[in-house]
Amino acid sequence: MYFYKNQFLHKQDIQISPDDRGYYFGDGIYEVFRVYNGQIYECGAHMQRLERTASEVRLSLPHTSDGILTILNKLIQHNSLVEGTVYLQITRGEAPRAHPFPTQAEPILLAYCSEVKRPLASIHNGIQAVTQPDIRWLRCDLKTLNLLPNILAKQTALDHGVQEVVLHRDGTVTECSASNLMMVRDQVLYTHPANHLILHGITRAVVLRLAHALHIPVKEEPFTTEQLLQADEAFITGTTVEITPILQVDGQSIGTGTPGSTTQRLQAEFERTFL
Ligand code: PDD
Repeated sequence: MYFYKNQFLHKQDIQISPDDRGYYFGDGIYEVFRVYNGQIYECGAHMQRLERTASEVRLSLPHTSDGILTILNKLIQHNSLVEGTVYLQITRGEAPRAHPFPTQAEPILLAYCSEVKRPLASIHNGIQAVTQPDIRWLRCDLKTLNLLPNILAKQTALDHGVQEVVLHRDGTVTECSASNLMMVRDQVLYTHPANHLILHGITRAVVLRLAHALHIPVKEEPFTTEQLLQADEAFITGTTVEITPILQVDGQSIGTGTPGSTTQRLQAEFERTFL
């Protein structure tokens, strides 16, 4: 069961107009929520980010936050979803292709859920990455459609036989194709500051809270790809990847080339937030 334009529908009954500005312009916003035990994880934080993105791109949400959450929870119930994700997308609506905001169009909400298992193998065994220039725009803090640079980066990683890409602007590490990046050096946790160059990940925020609670010093400051290569540990954070260790970047081992102890402590604490 999907939700589209104010009703619950089967996927095959959804009719999407080619005039949806999501197609022409990628003119829309989205969120990806995690569902553990039938419950949306960190729903308040996701809704706050959705509202902020909507307001920054001047798109009015078709329902209140509570209204949207009610729809998402009904979807979870209709689909008997226990473990998975919910995808929510809102486009600026349908209108013949023209750059100005349409005057008549109503925003269109699409939501559906998918059964997705936790990626336990990579969470435990780690992944490898390659570095690539971050060619995205300057509002990476907004969760908008238009993911072509992210897709190209991810595909480059896969073409190199690795799972993820570490994006950098002139040598400064920003984040990954669909996750944030953190590194540990001399027991200190480093991650790019939450400014316009990265998405302010919900998982990132949870991990920083856990680090404070564990008395792990945190520095939200930029670092270079060379500093990343010299780190003791590195990992990515995200709704679908949780906390996944990065063991190798550009063919070079990070630290011992195995998941580090700080990463593992954070992983254990992270699991306790939903288990
Ligand atoms: N991506 N950075 C980028 C560029 C992302 O696309 C994401 C999430 C994150 C992590 O954010 P969070 O912890 O809130 O999931 C960081 C989602 C999952 C996606 O596009 O599928």
